[in-house]
Amino acid sequence: MRRDLVRTTQLVILLLATWIPMRAEWQSVGSMSPSPLEGNQISFRNREGVITLTVLAPDLIRVRATRDTSPGPDYSYAVIKADWPPIHVEYAGTRQSGTLRTPELEVHVQLAPFRLGFYDRSGRLISKDADNLGMAWDGARPRCWKWMPADEHYFGLGEKGGPLDRRGRAFVMWNTDSYGWGDSTDPLYETIPFFIALREGRAHGLFFDNTYRSSFDLGVESPETYSFGAEGGELNYYFFYGPDPKKVLERYTELVGGMPMPARWALGYHQSRYSYYPESTVRFIADNFRQRRIPCDALFLDIDYMDGYRVFTWDKSRFPDPPKLLADLRRQGFRIVTNVDPGVKADPNYWVYQQGLAGDDFVKKPDGKLYIGKVWPGDCAFPDFTSPKVREWWGTLYKGLIQDGVAGFWNDMNEPALFAVPSKTMDLDTLFWDQGLKSPHAKIHNVYGMLMSAATQGGMLRQSPNERPLVITRATYAGGQRYSAVWTGDNSSTWDHLRISLPMIMGLGLSGLPLAGADIGGFAMSPSPELYTRWLEAGVFYPYCRTHTELGSRNQEPWSFGNRLEDINRRAIELRYRLLPYLYNAFHQAAQTGLPVMRALLLDYPDDANAAGQNYEFLLGDDLLVAPVVKSGEDTWGVYLPRGVWYDFWTDRRYTGPAGLHVDAPLDRIPLFVRGGAVVPTQQVVQYVDEAPINPLTLEIYPEGNSSRDYYEDDGLSFDYQRGAVLHRRFSAMQQPESTSLEVSAREGSYTPPARSLLLKVHNVRSAPRRVEVNGQTLELQAGGEDFEKAAGAWRYDETANLVLVKLADQAAALQVRIEK
Ligand code: GLC
Repeated sequence: MRRDLVRTTQLVILLLATWIPMRAEWQSVGSMSPSPLEGNQISFRNREGVITLTVLAPDLIRVRATRDTSPGPDYSYAVIKADWPPIHVEYAGTRQSGTLRTPELEVHVQLAPFRLGFYDRSGRLISKDADNLGMAWDGARPRCWKWMPADEHYFGLGEKGGPLDRRGRAFVMWNTDSYGWGDSTDPLYETIPFFIALREGRAHGLFFDNTYRSSFDLGVESPETYSFGAEGGELNYYFFYGPDPKKVLERYTELVGGMPMPARWALGYHQSRYSYYPESTVRFIADNFRQRRIPCDALFLDIDYMDGYRVFTWDKSRFPDPPKLLADLRRQGFRIVTNVDPGVKADPNYWVYQQGLAGDDFVKKPDGKLYIGKVWPGDCAFPDFTSPKVREWWGTLYKGLIQDGVAGFWNDMNEPALFAVPSKTMDLDTLFWDQGLKSPHAKIHNVYGMLMSAATQGGMLRQSPNERPLVITRATYAGGQRYSAVWTGDNSSTWDHLRISLPMIMGLGLSGLPLAGADIGGFAMSPSPELYTRWLEAGVFYPYCRTHTELGSRNQEPWSFGNRLEDINRRAIELRYRLLPYLYNAFHQAAQTGLPVMRALLLDYPDDANAAGQNYEFLLGDDLLVAPVVKSGEDTWGVYLPRGVWYDFWTDRRYTGPAGLHVDAPLDRIPLFVRGGAVVPTQQVVQYVDEAPINPLTLEIYPEGNSSRDYYEDDGLSFDYQRGAVLHRRFSAMQQPESTSLEVSAREGSYTPPARSLLLKVHNVRSAPRRVEVNGQTLELQAGGEDFEKAAGAWRYDETANLVLVKLADQAAALQVRIEK
């Protein structure tokens, strides 16, 4: 008994001894006094600092807290929007408290000690500072603690392993080269300090715009509070109110900028490995794709194409005539993407190094000497991408490769990653220009990769102003979607990694980065044939779709796993090409609104806990639900269908959700569902996107009451769409007792595609229609076969598939089709 008591007392002392000093380091914000409201902004001050609340929009408030009464320059690498429309804001208060009102939010301000609470206009509490600490500092380190309700869940934070719901875990943001990373490896390569909180079907968001090494604790330190903070800089965050999670994401995208519309070829299938060389190997890979009739749009050249890893050079023994090779490949329909790392070999005889020295473009140590670190080429110097002048210089370096015919660039190792140092990166005191502030690497590290991708994109645009560039980066920061696609670094060829990739890419989508993918088949090690096929079946639904693998692994092309799997793999890639018009529309929507292409179900079903808990199932665009098989040896698969009507893509079987079901999932089939009411635009299979124009444009119509969908198209390559060269129209389907009516609105916009047919495929029609009318005229019935293929206008009924097919010329004018029962 006594011994127990002693032990308990010892334990309590131990706990207090570790806990109290840890807590005591944090100095909470204390009391503050308000200054008068100035427009959309109000500040609170005390002797130690100032906190400013700025209302940018009715649902968006910035909180900027500095431990300095005269804050330094206000500059962000993420936020680009400055011209918010004026907004009516009110502040009313006493000496103890005040309330800041926007048309959608109320911020309750407690002055002593200073705490914030965010409420909706009906007085419902959304989020508030934790009572004990709120905002606090430990020397230069800011941190903020907030109330964490037991039923609140957190999504986003960019490239993170583990479940989509981040609750109960802690995360660090410090871009890190993480070869062979696992589910719980943290941090990884990218920093997106933005999350969406979801509770009782209602969402809000928080973006902590601080580029220093930062951390988020979502319930490890305490189950009742969460916190975020950084190793330096300001406590500078943005609070977004939904309650619709899509609205949070749209507003976030408005704040930091969205993804520009990618070129169509960027959405095709891409093939990579470390490394395809010499030239004969690249030609062999290209020829195999075409001979085997496996669609592919881009081949990647990894670092071995260079002369001793010197960026912007060719190894002329491996690639004696790049312009000829690339022109030949382009004739076969392949675009080439080459790897470009930031490290410039410190070789006095190398022109890039010479130019960088002459222009004073490299980062330096505090003593003024060049910072030198080791990467693939050995000793390297590193461009200071914070400087616009350096970004411009770096952009010019791509000219030669572009003139040789290189179509896209792959920026890698830009965390920046360094060999031979335990930190895997530059010394923290390395100096950067940073708006003339001369900031240390500690502040710039997390934006280095993003700024490199900005420099690359800028250079490409200057070289080819009317072509949409493809840049792919490994490291980035919030807002990086403005410049490049991302991939999730050096994953491994395991089932676990196939699984991890899904919530990870969904998480990137929820963090504003729609154009993302994982190395299909895995980078480290080699996949089993089954794993590669299952991975490819899922991967053709990644927004960015590329196979890649490491040096020395087994062949990882779609034909590398035997004839039977080659057929299945081909069909998986063909499915992506068939769906390209649909995918392109999902990308258009993402570019317009910031909504992801690969969507976590919570975005559409925030009030459905089952949907929000799905880690492996997702929506692609508005209407396809994809449930990849992510385990070995399965031939059926459990699927959760949220509320509404769903059709099995393969069998047309109709389901009504919410429902859990098991569906057939043999190795050649990924569970795939279409939302009732959908109109899914598809096209014929092509071997690369420019092989032939879309013809016919096929609309897969799944009538359900009255529904309609917008359709978008443009030339797929240039920026002419920004000058009106677009095609917009609306497809509608209406079910009536005696008929199904389809409407195609007149084309809007000045883009006119080459002449083609429009094939309307109406699903789930149980008996042959009596008559089909187009614009009031009876349409001819064709039995099918070649006659139907050739006919300019005809219809037929497929009684095995329960499909009505209506074929018409795709014209600019509106169309009305009536299918009589
Ligand atoms: C890094 C990249 C990988 C690439 C390799 C060689 O590990 O993440 O994709 O193949 O470097 O460039």
